[in-house]
Amino acid sequence: MRFYLDTANIDDIEKAAKLGIIEGVTTNPSLIAKEGMDFEEVIKTINTLVDGFVFAEVTALDPEEMVEEGLKLNELSDKMIIKLPCNWAGIQACKILSNKGVKVAVTLVFSANQALIAARAGAYFVAPFVGRLNDISQDGVGTLIKDIREIFMVNKIKTKIVAASLRNQMDVLNCAKAGVDVATIPYQTLLGLLNHPLTDAGLAKFMKDWDSMKNK
Ligand code: E4P
Repeated sequence: MRFYLDTANIDDIEKAAKLGIIEGVTTNPSLIAKEGMDFEEVIKTINTLVDGFVFAEVTALDPEEMVEEGLKLNELSDKMIIKLPCNWAGIQACKILSNKGVKVAVTLVFSANQALIAARAGAYFVAPFVGRLNDISQDGVGTLIKDIREIFMVNKIKTKIVAASLRNQMDVLNCAKAGVDVATIPYQTLLGLLNHPLTDAGLAKFMKDWDSMKNK
């Protein structure tokens, strides 16, 4: 499983890029709006900060306009992934854009059948939302992610799974165990993955012992 950063915050992306394990950045209209900056400028800046894929979501609701917007966003770099919502308009646009060689992520996926349809429309990625299902007392990983993984394996589907809406360490761990291709996570969640009190205590002890030897 690879790690992408789920944010449009440039400071967080700069800091995360330095950690050396982030291989892409996902955004959505809410994340872009939160930063209060020009959409294309943000996406262009993100492209300068990471080597991997940069996900940008169309805001049109009509298939033809989605295609038009997707093609325009795709011009911003050769690392673009165009996000489309998992409804029939998005599926139609996915088929057209995929046929033109544009890499599409179908987002807002909440059922395995949605993921299968997106894959059949040529999606390069599907983005199941784990946290939002957990929020309504469903099992985002235990049912949705595992079902999608099984369907893709049984049907030899190459579409990749980018698990989204991951809120905590257990979500990330469970996604890794379930075999998703990518987990996209906020910066603070990423930082938390490496924290362990025994690591901190162990390092403090090593340093204390080292200093005491030097003082002998
Ligand atoms: C991915 O880009 C998704 O839009 C994002 O992970 C959604 O996360 P949320 O459910 O925490 O808003």
